Amino acid sequence: MRIDFDPAALGRNPFYTFMNAVVVPRPIAWISTTSADGVDNLAPHSYFTVSCIDPPIVQFTSVGRKDSLNNVEATGSFVVNLAPEHLFEQINATSTDFPPGISEFDAVGIAREPSTRVKPPRVAASPAALECELHSTVRLGDSTVVFGRVVHAAVSESVLVDGHPEVTKLRPLTRLGKNEWGTMGELLEITRVPYAEWRNGPGRTGGAG
Ligand SMILES: Cc1cc2nc3c(=O)[nH]c(=O)nc-3n(C[C@H](O)[C@H](O)[C@H](O)COP(=O)(O)O)c2cc1C
Repeated sequence: MRIDFDPAALGRNPFYTFMNAVVVPRPIAWISTTSADGVDNLAPHSYFTVSCIDPPIVQFTSVGRKDSLNNVEATGSFVVNLAPEHLFEQINATSTDFPPGISEFDAVGIAREPSTRVKPPRVAASPAALECELHSTVRLGDSTVVFGRVVHAAVSESVLVDGHPEVTKLRPLTRLGKNEWGTMGELLEITRVPYAEWRNGPGRTGGAG
């Protein structure tokens, strides 16, 4: 038996809470921006994903109008800093609704490092950063989707294995429902089966056909 949830009957906030509980886990983009007045802003956004490979474009969604969105629109760039497990409390602290004149970097005590290609700083202790130039925005109801072209990436040498970022070293946090967050959990590995080999059965790629 299934229980039905009708968005129209439930209304905005209950369905928002419901969606956050079923669209899980969500990666967390820790977005740094700089305002037109030069204030460095930092805020987590879990409505975040890759939108395009070539050119490389990522997206995050501002639910309502927030400093991050205002800054991106005003100055045209942002940085996606990976949200690592060891910065859990600091990441959450940067989601406090500080007024636009206060920098979360300073209020929370997060060290900056200069970006290579864009004005907003990177989070020094985050192991991976994607520097983005604003590509476009799409307004959807009460939210705005921000697309950014990745113009530079910087990764800590300590999380690379054979030149590739290693997830067990990145240790990304994820966002779940309610006030829940997730950590890496168990890592599974499997290869994809090309259709030409499908007749051998899923996962059985070798042997006689
Ligand atoms: C883990 C986490 C993920 C969040 N994801 C989003 C999101 O995807 N979109 C959004 O608008 N707010 C999100 N928030 C809330 C914002 O971080 C919060 O409103 C913050 O104050 C916005 O900061 P700003 O005004 O400096 O941009 C999230 C909060 C947390 C803790």
